[in-house]
Amino acid sequence: MKESARGDSSSIGTAEKIISFLAEGENLFISGEELSRSLGVSRSAVWKQIKALRLEGFNIAAEPSRGYRLVSSPDRLRAAALKGLIECSRIGKRIISLDETVSTNSVAFSMAEEGETEGTIVIADSQSSGKGRLGRRWTSPAGVNLYCSIILRPPIQPVAAPQLTFLSVVAVARAIEKVCGISPRIKWPNDILVDAKKVAGLLNEMSAETDKVNFVILGIGVNLNMTKEQFPDDLRHPATSLFLETGKKVDRTQFVRVMIQELDELYSGFLADGYGAARSEWLERSRLNGEMVTVTDSGSVKKGRVVGIDGFGALLLDTGEQILSGDVVIGE
Ligand code: BTN
Repeated sequence: MKESARGDSSSIGTAEKIISFLAEGENLFISGEELSRSLGVSRSAVWKQIKALRLEGFNIAAEPSRGYRLVSSPDRLRAAALKGLIECSRIGKRIISLDETVSTNSVAFSMAEEGETEGTIVIADSQSSGKGRLGRRWTSPAGVNLYCSIILRPPIQPVAAPQLTFLSVVAVARAIEKVCGISPRIKWPNDILVDAKKVAGLLNEMSAETDKVNFVILGIGVNLNMTKEQFPDDLRHPATSLFLETGKKVDRTQFVRVMIQELDELYSGFLADGYGAARSEWLERSRLNGEMVTVTDSGSVKKGRVVGIDGFGALLLDTGEQILSGDVVIGE
């Protein structure tokens, strides 16, 4: 496994702290004196780091009387830059950013087994063996998309864990709407579609005992800037990226920031009042309401009209069937 952590909240260097400060400043100038005081380094050390950051692609404006201002960031998911941007109560307090890994879900799962606290996010620029639902692979090229996994430790029974799927899917849908200005639809259980093509998928994994969840890993993959050539030829369902749909490159750092903030808000609501609000929003955004569908699962095929989802996330058909897992295709 080739992994190289760029840094996390507890071990970040001066350059990353400068980015955090400037990012928190939200387009405002911060004086060199203030930066040097806050970071405990000389003003010439601050200037040296600013020059190095510019070489890395950060566009930082400098004005002698006003200080420094972050104009834009390179398209790299740096832990410290993200941390400076994310304001949340639970999710994102610690961010591990990897250049390449096998699967962020596998890394997050191992970390959770070792006792990692709730809210930690593992993000990778690429995955060599990204995991999809039903044992499939998730295509994960470098430099274009979002691959992340979030550790949660909700005080719930294992049977209620699928409710967290509502939260994560709704958070991604909201982020797409806010950042790209388009309204995606949800296909049960956790696909996000734009124009009937898949742009995002979620794979939630859990460790539990009979009556207690130890942890849940929310695995989120969003095709942000992937080009046509980067999709494999043998896809089972049509897929796309937000770039291909809108013609505009998505700022990955901004997308993660918005998505995590939405998820943090939804998760706080879930802990306080249950999953009802997320479920209602999920239903409003669902692509399947009233549709005739064919569901295949390990060789079995079921057909029927979708009448809703139950409290535990199962798909309900007019035949009385309650579908717990499977692959859904619209049509008979
Ligand atoms: C699906 O099949 O729709 C689920 C895809 C989930 C992909 C994401 S990418 C980040 C996380 N790590 C993985 O290995 N899988 C999930």
